Amino acid sequence: MDYKQTVTTALATALDGQLTADEIAAKLERPKTSDKGDMAFPTFTLAKVLHRAPQQIAQDLADKLDTTGFEKVEVVGPYLNFFFDKGAYSEATLNTVLTAGADYGTNADGNGGNVPIDMSSPNIAKPMSMGHLRSTVIGNSIAEILTKNGYHPIKDNHLGDWGTQFGKLITAYKLWGNEEDVKKDPINKLVEYYVRFHKEDVDKPELDDIAREWFKKLEDGDPEAHHLWEWFRKASLQEFNDVYDELGVKFDTYNGEAFYNDKLAEVVQILKDKHLLVESQGAQVVDLSKYDLNPALILKSDGASLYITRDIATALYRDRTYHPAQNLYVVGSEQTYYFKQLKAVLKEMGVPSADDLHHVPFGLITVDGKKLSTRSGRIILLAKVLEESIKLAGEEINEKNPDLANKEEVAKQVGVGAIVFGDLKNERTNNIDFVLADQLKFEGETGPYVQYSHARAESILRKAGNVDVQAAGNQVADPEAWDTIKALADFPAIVKMACAELEPSVVAKYAIRLAKTFNKYYAHSKILTEDAELPARLALVKAVSTVLKESLRLLGVQAPDEM
Ligand code: ARG
Repeated sequence: MDYKQTVTTALATALDGQLTADEIAAKLERPKTSDKGDMAFPTFTLAKVLHRAPQQIAQDLADKLDTTGFEKVEVVGPYLNFFFDKGAYSEATLNTVLTAGADYGTNADGNGGNVPIDMSSPNIAKPMSMGHLRSTVIGNSIAEILTKNGYHPIKDNHLGDWGTQFGKLITAYKLWGNEEDVKKDPINKLVEYYVRFHKEDVDKPELDDIAREWFKKLEDGDPEAHHLWEWFRKASLQEFNDVYDELGVKFDTYNGEAFYNDKLAEVVQILKDKHLLVESQGAQVVDLSKYDLNPALILKSDGASLYITRDIATALYRDRTYHPAQNLYVVGSEQTYYFKQLKAVLKEMGVPSADDLHHVPFGLITVDGKKLSTRSGRIILLAKVLEESIKLAGEEINEKNPDLANKEEVAKQVGVGAIVFGDLKNERTNNIDFVLADQLKFEGETGPYVQYSHARAESILRKAGNVDVQAAGNQVADPEAWDTIKALADFPAIVKMACAELEPSVVAKYAIRLAKTFNKYYAHSKILTEDAELPARLALVKAVSTVLKESLRLLGVQAPDEM
């Protein structure tokens, strides 16, 4: 039921054409608390037009207004406060939710348009840190949100599997490496070599020259260099996949930087043909002064490609393969300037989807106040954090519900969910300091809290004997239920807003709100009392369970039925 429409129509009639429906709709406000009504119309901006005092305008409108469909309409100073008819509104809302089930809120706005999402994209031979967690979980959630809005996302893991760092790694391995060690514990060993390289190269700058040579060899297809690279890549990917499995994140493609090696020559050719390449100190650059940006370095003086060269090839490939409606890059804010350069080069090249390229930035993550960096060797392994979180969740569950049948599985769902939700509830551009213990609390604005609220709803339904709730006639007049019903009615708009802003936190904050209102209702009202309204109350509980579960799904978080 679209109450905004009902309010707008009633006001338009009372105003006798002095404002259009759109003008009225734009002025409507939502009072912070339900005791001030469910929608409010402020009249002060009308005073000039209508040459009357705002209070008077409000009173005159109230006298003329057709109040069918409302419980009451109150004048408070310059405001007209509309109170919806709770019975009719709850019936309409609950029936819509129950009829649609998990499809509630799904829309076709995206028209099936392709949206490649560049996400996760860790670097080979380095551990996937908490820093990569953000890209993985934000990208994954955005993909779910896009699907819910009728788009077709393509999740692409643009692995950092090429570049000068492989020259460094090969150099380090040749100097200090040992095959058996790497086989036993690939990423840790490779990182050790990499960290040592950066320590020693402070005093021995010639190491950098050797590394450059190795990378050049790698680009030229030298068999030894290629063999080592392939080995490092495979071993790293295996470890990354363990983490993705744990998070429940799947990719459609793993087209890393190396995938574009055979597509770089064409990029350079196009740039040359369009007279965009200029020489600068032996290197080839694209001038971007007309965009107020520094030149983009495309080829080094030894002809080696760069990160951006491969990204240009990537964007061109995505353009041709997917004809994207949008082309998204879920990458940290520190690369904002870089993506401006990339977009500018693509525009200069005339790549059709250049304008639809969007960098979706996110802030830094620190864990218990510590910054993450591979070079300095201060690494917090994502796998370790996940492990710890699952362990802590297990302890909590053991205490709260020792008889739970599938404790281990639930501990995993809660432990992982806590981390994912703890990240996604923040606006993505915010920096976050992650304190694991806080995210695992069953109370407060956490994943476990939302999961627990869902499990509580399921437990009520079980206690009621899993009756078949009917998608008709569910009038809940209990004022304690009102905020929950309004929250349920908001879900479709939340789904759209999260998509427009590419912002999972919109869904996470909504899930917290719905869980909170539901818990308040549960605390104040006896849901399972045998009376005439019982079926309607159970319908409400079922609707809450459905929407909480669907909200969590959009975030990539599981919703156990019991915990
Ligand atoms: N591998 C890069 C890093 O860890 C991120 C890659 C982002 N994607 C891209 N197409 N540039 O910083």
